[in-house]
Amino acid sequence: MHSMKPIVAPSLLAADFGHIAEQLALVEPVADWIHLDLMDGVFVPNISFGFPVLEAVARLWHKPMDVHLMITDPIRYVDRFAALGTFMMTVHVEATPDLPLAISEIHARGMKAGVALSPETPVTAIADVIADVDMVLIMTVRPGFGGQAFIEHSYDKIREARQLMAETGSTALIEVDGGVTFDTAPLLLEAGVDVLVAGSAVFKHPDPVLAVQTLKAM
Ligand code: DX5
Ligand code: ZN
Repeated sequence: MHSMKPIVAPSLLAADFGHIAEQLALVEPVADWIHLDLMDGVFVPNISFGFPVLEAVARLWHKPMDVHLMITDPIRYVDRFAALGTFMMTVHVEATPDLPLAISEIHARGMKAGVALSPETPVTAIADVIADVDMVLIMTVRPGFGGQAFIEHSYDKIREARQLMAETGSTALIEVDGGVTFDTAPLLLEAGVDVLVAGSAVFKHPDPVLAVQTLKAM
């Protein structure tokens, strides 16, 4: 059993964008972080939202902002994410030309650094940096869209990441993103996950507050 309560990060992507202020105010008292997905239509075949929306979120949300960058060469924007007050800046291994440099640039600006792995990318791709990052994001769906079915072999990947962390002395958090539900969450926590990102499970639930509380209690 997992001894600590998970960190729960609702994903704004699944919220009603006509009522962002209300949606954020609703979940902020019970959530830990807000998860913010940026997509550029190049690294992934979808475009989500950009800086004007993030600036609004930064004004409305007072807890940590967990920014997941599904964009090519994300480090180009490191100063802008720092200026927004980003807590965790997570870049994709597949989209970041110089990963060690990206991590040091993020840290130099006082942010936590995360690295994300798409489903087809093995954990070994981050062997050289895992000891230097604050979080490993394991994508449990193909990046680009909310509401997809969870990829089952992800449990093994989480265990592999846990093992690599033990071998390298890494204290990084493990975050999972995609298809997190009341059914998959307990198994994910059992496999060693620290942070649950939940889009549909929270914002498409009739009672988003109860949904977050349910995930917290798992
Ligand atoms: C997908 C995004 C996710 C998305 C998850 O590329 O990274 O954060 O919002 O949505 P659900 O929880 O609905 O799978
Ligand atoms: Zn995400």
